[in-house]
Amino acid sequence: MEIELSLQFLRVVERAAIASAKTMGLGDGHKSDQAAVESMRHVMDEMPMDGTIVIGEGERDEAPMLFIGERVGAAQHVRGYNFPTVDIAVDPLEGTNLCATGAPGAITVLAASEKGGLLHAPDLYMEKIVVGPSCKGAVDLDAPVADNLRSIAKRLDRDVEDLTVTVLDRTRHEKLIADIRAAGARIRLISDGDLSAGISAAVVGTGVHAVMGTGGAPEGVLTAAALRCLNGEILARLVVSKPEHEERLEKMGIKDGKRVYATDDLASGKKIIFACTGVTEGNLLRGVRFFGEGIRTQSLIVTLDERQVRFIDTVHLEKRPDVKVRFP
Ligand code: FBP
Repeated sequence: MEIELSLQFLRVVERAAIASAKTMGLGDGHKSDQAAVESMRHVMDEMPMDGTIVIGEGERDEAPMLFIGERVGAAQHVRGYNFPTVDIAVDPLEGTNLCATGAPGAITVLAASEKGGLLHAPDLYMEKIVVGPSCKGAVDLDAPVADNLRSIAKRLDRDVEDLTVTVLDRTRHEKLIADIRAAGARIRLISDGDLSAGISAAVVGTGVHAVMGTGGAPEGVLTAAALRCLNGEILARLVVSKPEHEERLEKMGIKDGKRVYATDDLASGKKIIFACTGVTEGNLLRGVRFFGEGIRTQSLIVTLDERQVRFIDTVHLEKRPDVKVRFP
């Protein structure tokens, strides 16, 4: 499944990035998101697979496309072939507002696995802590922030003062931010995009040593899919604070709302593909660049079984015969 489909999934995230990047800075998040969703849906329909969206734009009645449970792929309209069955999680445009305002860090994202390999997470918040390969096993979601930072620093062979922790800039994080500051670590506050930050934590050289705080649960599952392939770690717990949250969990078959999920619990698949493309400039990926004759995109595609990490720079010639391709 991984080898045959990975380059096709790359095309899905690339095309969605190009479509949404065309709306960059228009100040219309809905339009940016819609462009990514429509593009993803269109490209996936041509793929030789029998896909089911397990994390998408929401329930069927609130999302016209890429709704949870929607079937995608050529199996929907081509009969007589034995297409691979695939579960798919998407965040067509992670950082909608970032794209709408032209701010850094917007990406298009997709993860796929064999059936049952990705947690069907409800669209609730999730407390998360994300670290890279060197810090696997060094953190605990319930430990004091200072203890986690000390353990991370020890594993990275540096002082706490030399760590940078990425945190979503939200009022709910006031105490977390104060605790990180008191421990002495540096903080990068981001307005959106804890998924992109989580992937960066597993890539040495991005300057992200940990991501802490509460963000979307679907983003948590997508982060876990990436980290399974990049050997990082996420620990997470759903935020269940209202009776209607309990109902949502029940509906999705989740019995223990207080459970701490590890990377393998969120993305348990044996075959996982994770792909993302930069929409706006970011510290992990460059944004889409339109250069008149063509378009250039940068993507990351990782596969678990194949154990390959590919940073892919694509020049889309856009069917023009006179394109000059520049050295990266
Ligand atoms: P979108 O994909 O909807 O743009 O989400 C962006 C994001 O910042 C995520 O990265 C994060 O997990 C979540 O929103 C945080 O939610 P909130 O904005 O409600 O704090």
